[in-house]
Parts: sequence; C-alpha cells; structure tokens
Amino acid sequence: MPGIAVKNVTKTFRSGRGKVRALSEVSLALEPGGFAAVIGKSGSGKSTLLHCIGGLELPDHGEIICLDRPVHSLGPREMSLFQRHHVGFVFQRGNLLSYLTVAENIGFPLALNRFGKKERANRIDELLDRIGLRPAANALPHELSGGETQRVAVARAIAHSPGILLADEPTASLDTETGGEIVHLMRDLGRDRGCTILMATHDVEITASASTIIRLRDGRIQKEVF
Ligand SMILES: Nc1ncnc2c1ncn2[C@@H]1O[C@H](COP(=O)(O)OP(=O)(O)OP(=O)(O)O)[C@@H](O)[C@H]1O
Ligand SMILES: [Mg+2]
Repeated sequence: MPGIAVKNVTKTFRSGRGKVRALSEVSLALEPGGFAAVIGKSGSGKSTLLHCIGGLELPDHGEIICLDRPVHSLGPREMSLFQRHHVGFVFQRGNLLSYLTVAENIGFPLALNRFGKKERANRIDELLDRIGLRPAANALPHELSGGETQRVAVARAIAHSPGILLADEPTASLDTETGGEIVHLMRDLGRDRGCTILMATHDVEITASASTIIRLRDGRIQKEVF
C-alpha cells in the first residue's frame, strides 16, 4: 500500500482571470516513509498538489488515497479528523502561533489530539533537543530567527507523528545552508516517525535529500526521477 496515491487528479480554479487549470490528470504514488520533492516553476501547481493531498482543496475529479483513506471524498468531520491526526504542514514562513511560546507551539497538535500531559511534556522535550532550541523553549516566535522559526515549524508539524508531512517551500525564506539544515531535520525526524514527506520547492540544490523528484509543468507531471 502506498503512503500517498494520486490518480488522475485535475483541479481548476475560476477567478478574475477566468478558468485556470492548476493540475491536469496528475498521478503519482509514494511509498510510506518516502521523501519526495515537487519542483517546477511558479504557477506550475506545486502548492495546489500539496493542498489537494492534505484536503485543503478538493480536486474536480480524480482520486487521492492517503494512508488508505479517500481524501477526495471525506465528509467534513472525517476530513478534520484526518487532518488533525495524520497530516503535518510546514509553510514558507513557519506560521507559528504568535502568542504561544516555542514549547507551546510544538505542543499545540498534541493538545488538539488529546495526548496526556506527561506524553506531551516528553515529546516537547525530545523535540526541543532535536531542533537544538531547548534554551528558547519559553521564547515567543517574534524572538526567533527565520531558521529557528522553521525548526520549530518542523517540530510542530511532526510532534503528533502524522503519517504525512506536507511542506510548501519550507526553505524559501532562508539562505542555502540554513535551508539545507531544515530539510535534513525534516527528513530525519520524518524518517524516525515513518512519515511520508512531500516538499514543494524552487530550490533544486535542496532536492538532493529527496528519494523521489516530481517535476510539474503547467499542472502536469513532466518527469519523475527515482
Ligand atoms: N485559490 C486560487 N484561485 C485562483 N487561482 C489559483 C488559486 N490557487 C492557485 N491558483 C492558480 O493555479 C495555478 C497553480 O498555482 P500554485 O499556487 O499551485 O502554483 P505553485 O507551483 O505553487 O507556484 P509558486 O511556486 O509561485 O508557489 C496558478 O496559475 C495560480 O494562479
Ligand atoms: Mg506555491
């Protein structure tokens, strides 16, 4: 069973510009625990693909099966449970909750998923060590650098051990070296927890850590390199 299977997915947006076909008949399959990079020019459909897989957008047609669940046809309740239990998101600029400390941000998905107090504290502790930010446990997001923010964002995304980690340009606001560190952190933490990782990026250099590269062009898969 693949971790993520996408079959003939098409997604169109209607906007002020008229009809835009963001994804055209996209199919792919990722093994559980795999790490795939999605590359392609701006507007090629990378974010749309991640959003469809995470259930933030619904495809016009086609199927998306994640961890044996038909994401394209879940009802609102099943969808919110699927997202809460099984999906972690990392965005370009962290999107940390500004009024919560670093430790509280990491603990947020654990609280949502009703982990016990002790388990929460253990996981937060372990992650603070893994991301090297134990001294910043009580800092607020505005007190962090861009790289530190992204480390916290990665820790928060995987804290509840989701089966799927979706990262949309997680290194776009960082220098190459810091970006590389974030990708390694994502890969290592994801691997320990058996996450299937899908990362959209402009930066071809950081795709070296990925086991699969999916290239999109005008909403179509151009080439898969294994
Ligand atoms: N909510 C929306 N409404 C209308 N059009 C949209 C919407 N989201 C995306 N699009 C369009 O769909 C196409 C694909 O967009 P998408 O954001 O998936 O590209 P991308 O590869 O992530 O680009 P970037 O590298 O700039 O982030 C673009 O033409 C975009 O304008
Ligand atoms: Mg995008």
